[in-house]
Amino acid sequence: MMKYDLGEGDFKNWIVAEADFSRNLLGKAEAVMSLGNGYMGLRSATEEPYVGEVRNLFVAGTFNQSDRIEVSELPNAADVTRLDIRVDGERLDAAPSRTANYVRALNLKEAELTRSFIWTTSAGKEVAFTFKRFVSLDNLHVIAMSLEIEALDADVQISIESGINAQVANSGSQHFYEGEKRIYDKKYIEMIQKTVESQIDFMFHTVHHASLDGVELEEPFMRIDRRVVMLTFKSAVAKGQKLSLEKLTTVHTSRDKDLAGMELQDMRQQALSSLRACAAKGYDALLLEHARAWERKVWEVYPLHIDSENDFDLLAARFALYHLTVMTPAHDERMGIAAKGLSGEGYHGHSFWDTEMFILPFFTYSNPQIARSLLTYRYLGLEGARKKAKSNGYEGAMYPWEAAWPSDGEVAPEWGRVDVVTGKQTKIWTGFIEQHITADVAFAVWQYYMATDDQAFMEEFGYEIIFDTAKFWASRLEWDDSRQQYSINDVIGPDEYKEHVDNNAFTNYFAHFNLELAVTYYQQLRERDTAVYQKLNAKLQLEQAAIAWNEAIDKLYLPQPRDTDLLVPQDDTYLTKRIIDLTKYKNQTHVNTIFEDYSLEQLSDIQVSKQADLMILFYLLEDKFSEEVKIANYHYYEPKTLHDSSLSLSTHAILANDLNDRSLAYQLYQQACEIDLGPDMKSSDLGMHTASIGGIWQIIVMGFAGVRMIHGKLRMNPKLPAHWNKLEFSISWKGQRLEVAIGKDKLVITALDQLPVTLEVYGTEYSFDHVLTVNLASGDN
Ligand code: BGC
Repeated sequence: MMKYDLGEGDFKNWIVAEADFSRNLLGKAEAVMSLGNGYMGLRSATEEPYVGEVRNLFVAGTFNQSDRIEVSELPNAADVTRLDIRVDGERLDAAPSRTANYVRALNLKEAELTRSFIWTTSAGKEVAFTFKRFVSLDNLHVIAMSLEIEALDADVQISIESGINAQVANSGSQHFYEGEKRIYDKKYIEMIQKTVESQIDFMFHTVHHASLDGVELEEPFMRIDRRVVMLTFKSAVAKGQKLSLEKLTTVHTSRDKDLAGMELQDMRQQALSSLRACAAKGYDALLLEHARAWERKVWEVYPLHIDSENDFDLLAARFALYHLTVMTPAHDERMGIAAKGLSGEGYHGHSFWDTEMFILPFFTYSNPQIARSLLTYRYLGLEGARKKAKSNGYEGAMYPWEAAWPSDGEVAPEWGRVDVVTGKQTKIWTGFIEQHITADVAFAVWQYYMATDDQAFMEEFGYEIIFDTAKFWASRLEWDDSRQQYSINDVIGPDEYKEHVDNNAFTNYFAHFNLELAVTYYQQLRERDTAVYQKLNAKLQLEQAAIAWNEAIDKLYLPQPRDTDLLVPQDDTYLTKRIIDLTKYKNQTHVNTIFEDYSLEQLSDIQVSKQADLMILFYLLEDKFSEEVKIANYHYYEPKTLHDSSLSLSTHAILANDLNDRSLAYQLYQQACEIDLGPDMKSSDLGMHTASIGGIWQIIVMGFAGVRMIHGKLRMNPKLPAHWNKLEFSISWKGQRLEVAIGKDKLVITALDQLPVTLEVYGTEYSFDHVLTVNLASGDN
């Protein structure tokens, strides 16, 4: 079980811990406590190995295809965390019956993982272990580890084998050639491997410092074998003595921007000298630099405080900010955020709409520089998106449902789980027909532009994304004679339990929005007739395209609320399908239990949804629907939604708050936080749920604080949960940071640069340039 109340003093609500180690449930802590810095992600497998563990190290953007029929994925790189530790020849195994005071703790503030316990050997000797490690945010290439072993009540013989172990794979798939291995000066060990298809060089360099009560140990025994380079340190440790081992590793790849164009030999030299510089500093000094970087780059930039009756609410928010940092390759605009971050093999390291709809708003409103980088990744991805449109017979840019390297195009796998009815593998249709991603990207560009006024981004990248995605939609529409309107047929909407549907409302509205954006910006640019217009017109033939866009906007079918019950059909047939009793699945303790009884094909004929579909439309394009319509649909669709995707709860929480069901909203907030932090010990095995992590921030800021951008204007309608006394955070708006404090009866906003701000609070428009105080009526908040 995880524990969240171990933090004291300055670390209260900063510690995610585990106080009873279970060898059978390893995945949860491995993922939840994973470390990283956006450049690389290290899953937190324990030093001593166990059956069922997953040891992962991923370096962002280093995609490779292990063989022709597998999709391109992030390769699991060599492992440096595993240690073979023996006491009197007996291998360490922290079985609960032999360990006492076991605590593993991730300190979110300083991003350091520690583990300590007392182990009793089979001869009854007690030995204390303390492990520490971090992945530096100061120097993105560094993994630092430290181990201290104390003989408590008897003399022992200790041996530790440690090094670089490249006998790893992605669930069996091998991504690397054997590579080169070497040991310099009996000290610096090296492993260099190339990926088999993308030909990326990975360079690992490791150095150890082993000592007994401060005195350096003798030279270790050296071993070079197939895909491993190892050193073994041995020492007699007398009762009361301490053996210490520091291990520092640097990771570089030929994809690193700062190594671009260099010869392997030069890269290797540079990597080696950076390791020597680290070794001169040592673990503690490096940790200090790392902790300062967290303070400077994270906690000062994202101040967030919740004064709640439940401490967990604040801890979960900090946990979200922690993972938003470790999952995001902010250092390189050629890389996107993976659906499981860099914390597990799930979804192969691919980027989905999860980024634009669930994670990007956090960056757009908190750190626009990073949002810009993530959107630039999509700009570079136009290459792959154009390729996909063309091969599907469409025009413009059709974004891949799953994206890897920008030029790759679609990388979604084609085959998935076993069909319970036929016993065959189920075909995965998302890469072919889940197409709303294309409009989601355009929407995110617009949201970023409205929040930042970053005209330079639009001119360089943004307009082109919006125009070329609109070209795709115009070529994608099909004329429906009976309706005398355009349809979008044969798609999957956000609700992936409905495949091959016509006119999914979310998809149609978002496509329409994408087309409207294109027309608006086309007209603006044309009037100004600037060089940007001329460049884009020459590249994309805008004049011709605009004719098709206008026609499409006028005639695209947008499902309307029915007169009888105000229901908006999720697609053309959803409301005609069979209704079954879903109680069993609604009360499930883990997701996807419906697949124990039904195949995906059968679900297509039942009114059951995997996740928010219409609800996310109501949230993102809120002014297109009346409150009455939203309420009617919420009450109809939510009971049919199993929340089998982690993307579902945050949207429902925000809407519940919008619709004034505040206790439900709070309950959904807690449930969303529990997707990774909750008692289901298997929920995070494949990695973190990054969209849900972004969703936690959105529930707080877009939900409880009621922040929204409507037609380019800022609005804030706060409604805190009854358990919360105060919420404080900051957002970035049009280049200026606004500090927001919401209490039970007051909203205070401080414009840090003292530049003019206009916003609406509960229907009243306010303009100010320093501090705004608004009294909140008790009904508001
Ligand atoms: C969800 C998608 C999501 C994907 C990656 C799927 O289970 O249905 O909406 O994009 O997971 O997180």
